[in-house]
Amino acid sequence: MASLPKREIEPVKADQARIADMLRQIAEIGADPTAGISRVGFSKEERQAHELVGGWLKNLGLPTSVDPIGNTMAARPGAASGKPAIAFGSHLDSVVHGGKFDGIVGVVAMVEVMTLMAESRAATKHPLKGVIFACEEGARFGEPCIGSKAIAGMLTETDLTRIRDAEGITLEQAMTTAGFNPSQLGDVRWNHDDVAALLEVHIEQGRILESESRPIGLVDVVSGSTRMRMTVAGRAGHTGGTPMQSRADALAAAAEITLAVEALANGPTYRGTRATVGVLDVYPNRITTIPGRVEMRIDVRDFDSDRLRQAAREIAERARNIADRRGVAIDAEVIADTSPVVLSMWLRRAVSQVCGELGLDWRFMPSGAGHDAQIMASIAPTAIIFVPSKDGASHVPEEWTSVADIARGADVLYQSILRIDDVLAAS
Ligand code: GLV
Ligand code: MN
Ligand code: MN
Repeated sequence: MASLPKREIEPVKADQARIADMLRQIAEIGADPTAGISRVGFSKEERQAHELVGGWLKNLGLPTSVDPIGNTMAARPGAASGKPAIAFGSHLDSVVHGGKFDGIVGVVAMVEVMTLMAESRAATKHPLKGVIFACEEGARFGEPCIGSKAIAGMLTETDLTRIRDAEGITLEQAMTTAGFNPSQLGDVRWNHDDVAALLEVHIEQGRILESESRPIGLVDVVSGSTRMRMTVAGRAGHTGGTPMQSRADALAAAAEITLAVEALANGPTYRGTRATVGVLDVYPNRITTIPGRVEMRIDVRDFDSDRLRQAAREIAERARNIADRRGVAIDAEVIADTSPVVLSMWLRRAVSQVCGELGLDWRFMPSGAGHDAQIMASIAPTAIIFVPSKDGASHVPEEWTSVADIARGADVLYQSILRIDDVLAAS
């Protein structure tokens, strides 16, 4: 691989104690008395976390603002005028009973880098932009990356009323309740000319780096996801009085569909596809009543966009066959669809070169999870810098990454921004 222009590595290192303290303070917001962290998109906890971190950025003297749908941004001017920004950041929302690191690590790395820039009085030619994206997790609305999709112009006005959470609250209502102004969606959008590159530090959410004792992964391709809502409608009835042969048990059908989803992803056509039934809501959910209705949520992931959509179609077809045989009805609908993305080659090369100069062992690798940088790739070159996840655990309270590993991610981010600033200025 041809190398990019070299630059002296700055003698600047992330401060582990400062990183640990930021993680601790953020983890206090939304700490769930039952387990882990529950700080879902557009909740008061997510807002509180944005305000906390926004305050830190303001204390660094950075003009900080919140856009009309809740993305928080901090700007650091560049030495040259009229240049597009180098942006970096991640998200602060979590899944229900999630961990303390998914998204948070990228935000903490962003604040740490802004702090190091201030301390070392580093001057970049391009302006820098720290970003905290709103509502990245698809956990609440099914649709992931709401904040970044709005910035990239991929969220429509129709989406604001179409997309609902489990309580039926629309995105528009959730944004309004959180104090935002979804009618100004158009103003959230960034132009291609506003941003030269975006970098996101993130936990791997898998066990490859840990198993290879490697501190850094550079993502080449990010998986897409297609999500479905499926309602299985049977007939509720008395569990004692209804003979087995005259039942239309919605849960028994949903169970067979669940196994069919697993079998499809394990089958030879779909090697590499991941398909999961993550939600089964059973009604009326009583021991002495045959289940009359089941609400299912199905998440399909793939690096191949054709196979992703084909898998979703085939799941719906297999579910209909099962339903017909069992005498229940199926209503299936795609509620979210995000394409897989190959990330920028030149950014990856620049960051890998920095890793080599820092003496850090790195590898290229795919991301099975979705990310804001995947969405932002539609308007700018983007890079994702992975740091190891203990036991690969994520979206669970056990999620964990060492402060030393996060500091290494922040070091790579800091030096990469300076390198990218040089490469862009020279081009
Ligand atoms: C994001 O965390 C995802 O579910 O991919
Ligand atoms: Mn994340
Ligand atoms: Mn996540």
